[in-house]
Amino acid sequence: MQPRVISIINFKGGVGKTTTAVNLAAYLAAAGKRTLLVDMDPQTSATLHFWNENEYELIKRSGQTIAHLMYRAGKRKSFNIDQYVLALPESDEDARNALRANLRVIAGDQKMIKLDRALDSRVTLLDSILFPLRRQFDFIILDSPPVMYSVIRNNILASDYYLIPAVPDTISTQGIRHLLEILQSYFSTYERLIKDHRARLLGVVFTRFGGLNISLHKEMYARVQKEFADGAFVDCGVPAGSNFVFDVVIRERIDVARSQAARLPLNLYNPDGEVAVDYLRLTRAVVERMQSGFAMDPPSAR
Ligand SMILES: Nc1ncnc2c1ncn2[C@@H]1O[C@H](COP(=O)(O)OP(=O)(O)O)[C@@H](O)[C@H]1O
Ligand SMILES: [Mg+2]
Repeated sequence: MQPRVISIINFKGGVGKTTTAVNLAAYLAAAGKRTLLVDMDPQTSATLHFWNENEYELIKRSGQTIAHLMYRAGKRKSFNIDQYVLALPESDEDARNALRANLRVIAGDQKMIKLDRALDSRVTLLDSILFPLRRQFDFIILDSPPVMYSVIRNNILASDYYLIPAVPDTISTQGIRHLLEILQSYFSTYERLIKDHRARLLGVVFTRFGGLNISLHKEMYARVQKEFADGAFVDCGVPAGSNFVFDVVIRERIDVARSQAARLPLNLYNPDGEVAVDYLRLTRAVVERMQSGFAMDPPSAR
């Protein structure tokens, strides 16, 4: 089974998960990779990055969302997966149409909140839903909600890799250990279920970097990089290595909010802007890491 599924994950909100999921997916698609973005967050912000409220209303009304898909799959009702894999809305803009060729989205749904309890006992439901799609796509990117543990657990147990966006402040960097510990507990509890694809850490990417806090941000970057290098997370199954913090940081720039309002990923909104360039570099670094097998190293002994 080809490793293709990447969770964008952090228990904290507001750290750039959705921005990273959307723009990573868009850059991969623009590079000609068949890419599927799955919006697992009931806040549906990844979905609303591409469809406006009215368009999204229609998608919901026709039941073409992740909540309907998981409900049917969970109840073992019949479903046609292709009905949930949506092409982007048609547009007059050439650039946007170019993305349509390779990017598909499974739309998010507020109703995921109602499934939270049910997913507690169906920890590999998403994994089984994505299984046939692994062959159709080069990459499948999962945007995660904050805090909803049952959804996050479904995401991570369906994934080959995970990427942690983090804001370079003290509280957020402390959260990295908490996150790695919980993921490690999932990996050990469900080891039997995921024997062929235990998700590997691609790395931490610092987002919303710079501005007035630049000196604090640089300090946090250096501290977290040193922690990884020193093997501070070996007990969480992450071997010692400074590479776990991406060289590229995502700068805090107004283009992010503007591109969301324009319902365009950054590579279409303003490809020459600084934050677009940051996401392009991140995408390259992610692909390089996957290709080099860096993230495939066996975890060191617990
Ligand atoms: N690099 C950035 N520069 C400026 N604003 C950003 C950046 N990344 C994210 N944001 C803003 O921060 C907020 C949270 O980002 P988001 O990607 O939705 O985080 P999460 O999915 O982790 O909650 C959004 O309002 C978004 O516009
Ligand atoms: Mg989000």
